[in-house]
Amino acid sequence: MIDFKELAKEYGTPLYVYDFDYMAAQYEALKEAFRGRKSIIAYAVKANSNLSVIKHFAELGSGADCVSIGEVRRAFLAGIPSYKIIFSGVGKSDDEIREAIERDILYINVESEAELGRVELISKELNCAARISIRVNPNIDPKTHPYIATGLHDNKFGVDLDAAKRMYIKANNSENLDPVGIHFHIGSQLTQLQPIREAAEIVADLVRSLQAIDIELKFFDIGGGLGIKYDDETTIEPYEYAQAILGTLTALDMTILCEPGRFLTANAGYFITKFLYEKQNGEKKFVVVDGAMNDFLRPSLYKAYHEIEALSDAEGEPRAVDIVGPVCESGDFFAKDYLLPPLEHGDILVIKSAGAYGFGMGSNYNTRGRSAEVAVENGKARLIRRRESFEDLIALETEYLED
Ligand code: LLP
Repeated sequence: MIDFKELAKEYGTPLYVYDFDYMAAQYEALKEAFRGRKSIIAYAVKANSNLSVIKHFAELGSGADCVSIGEVRRAFLAGIPSYKIIFSGVGKSDDEIREAIERDILYINVESEAELGRVELISKELNCAARISIRVNPNIDPKTHPYIATGLHDNKFGVDLDAAKRMYIKANNSENLDPVGIHFHIGSQLTQLQPIREAAEIVADLVRSLQAIDIELKFFDIGGGLGIKYDDETTIEPYEYAQAILGTLTALDMTILCEPGRFLTANAGYFITKFLYEKQNGEKKFVVVDGAMNDFLRPSLYKAYHEIEALSDAEGEPRAVDIVGPVCESGDFFAKDYLLPPLEHGDILVIKSAGAYGFGMGSNYNTRGRSAEVAVENGKARLIRRRESFEDLIALETEYLED
């Protein structure tokens, strides 16, 4: 049991707390599901890019799935070996492509024909052959929130099957491109297996049709997306997930590459905030806390549900309140009509499942410094990012102040 009150006292609020043992257990569960098969779990760094979190996964043997050269640099700094780092994303700049090739990462996930052209040109300049994989958009509805669906032709991600085939042929004929993998990622917070199975089938068929023309790929990259329980969702068991994927790979001897983010970190994380005031506008009751949408955006952006626990000694019946922060936006809320017990000034609220897409989606809106982050491992807590100060926030501007 993590003593959130004690951590709030020691490190202040708002605060992110991560259970590193939980993260390790999730990693091991997924790795175990693919046992007996060559596999790389490449942690999706965007879910939580704190260096200590990445290092924790590096020590477990994880690779890294990155979406910017900044994330690639973080992965290197945290000790992930180059041969387990991949780089995806629809809008890589020339500089990013060049650096990824120079750093000799496992492969670049190419997301358009135009990008393939840039990668070829740059690796020609560098006099080498860039390892690539192509992100296929299988046009499958993943049955998740529209903002985090990525595998439909309506979404900007990947290329359709015909384009993919053309690109593999081009890459195979190029001295400066080395096609080693194939990739798909149909969306995030997936709770149904069928769309994943269908996507894998489509992509595996493409692999077979490429084999028929002597294009052999080594890596079958199934993306991330495994959903977790925020509320009462039924989730996919890692074993069933692995079996569904492997079932589509008959006669194909490929290394599985998997890019989980949320599955590894979401339920390991807690966002800790302090109760400040209660107020009532007409019939509506508000609980105002010291954390806000700039710290934790998911409820505002996706109307995402997060369980909230009040650590309060006050007695009385729970009542429905909106839990809101100090930012000057009506969209600044953590929950609406949420049942909370009576609270006393300074009581701690624990917002759960906040370890993925929490801190990383934060901002300095309203000149609010970002929260501190704390890791708990083997019963011991340690700071892994200090709270941002006002000086941190203005540091990049002060030298431009004119007299
Ligand atoms: N691989 C690729 C290519 C991705 O685009 C993503 C997530 C992942 C892996 C990891 O997906 P995960 O296993 O975490 O589902 N901010 C949103 C989620 C955006 C996901 C973006 N891509 C949220 O808070 O729900």
